[in-house]
Amino acid sequence: MPRLGVNIDHVATVRQARRTFEPDPVWAAALAQLGGADAITFHLREDRRHIQDRDARVLKETVTVKLNFECACTKEMLDIAIDVKPTDVLLVPESRQEITTEGGLNVVAKQNDIRRAVDRLHQAGISVSLFVDPEVAQIAAAHAAGADSVELHTGSYALAKLNPERAEVLQSFRRACEVTVQHGLQLHAGHGLTYANVRAIALIPEMRELNIGHSIVSRAIMVGMSQAVREMKALVTTHEE
Ligand code: PXP
Repeated sequence: MPRLGVNIDHVATVRQARRTFEPDPVWAAALAQLGGADAITFHLREDRRHIQDRDARVLKETVTVKLNFECACTKEMLDIAIDVKPTDVLLVPESRQEITTEGGLNVVAKQNDIRRAVDRLHQAGISVSLFVDPEVAQIAAAHAAGADSVELHTGSYALAKLNPERAEVLQSFRRACEVTVQHGLQLHAGHGLTYANVRAIALIPEMRELNIGHSIVSRAIMVGMSQAVREMKALVTTHEE
């Protein structure tokens, strides 16, 4: 059975919409752990659009399950990650314009930089995962760069129209999973997974971890809305001092 990593970035997105203190992603991480999260994942972006440096530090102090620090492969981010010392660092490509992480890391093209980053993180006692497209060349390059695991990008699967397109994408994704394991890498996956599409990916026998954010945070808003309104209504309509 794969571990469930809960990505809490979009709790911080709501907070940053007002640049206030709520909702606190640290609090969300505690509730996610109560719900059974096996890992908490956060992405400290260079533009700090959601998670802030303070979140990374407080998450490190409070999270009791595996902590995945997702970041770009830059000196600034590696310095912060080594200072925070999470369980894992997940290296991803980053562009200011993108709405979310759009593609996998081009490990083939950036082999030397990534190998140096992996070595630095290993020396600090941090396990390293690389977010890559489900392609043989990228997986082989991740192995050559010394990564411990790869997170295969499930975006193409999630975006594929229903059968036969989705079945074809899934078949080629499964092949990428086999190649990952043949290289001795731990197999993780994520991006675009939802309550409707997660099962086929979760059932891949070699799968060790799924990282899911947007769909869980979206559902949390919906299942929590009635209660939140009931609590506010009670305050608005109760006349006692
Ligand atoms: N894995 C990586 C590398 C990501 O960048 C993201 C998005 O932050 C996720 C997983 C989670 O994707 P989603 O929010 O679509 O579940």
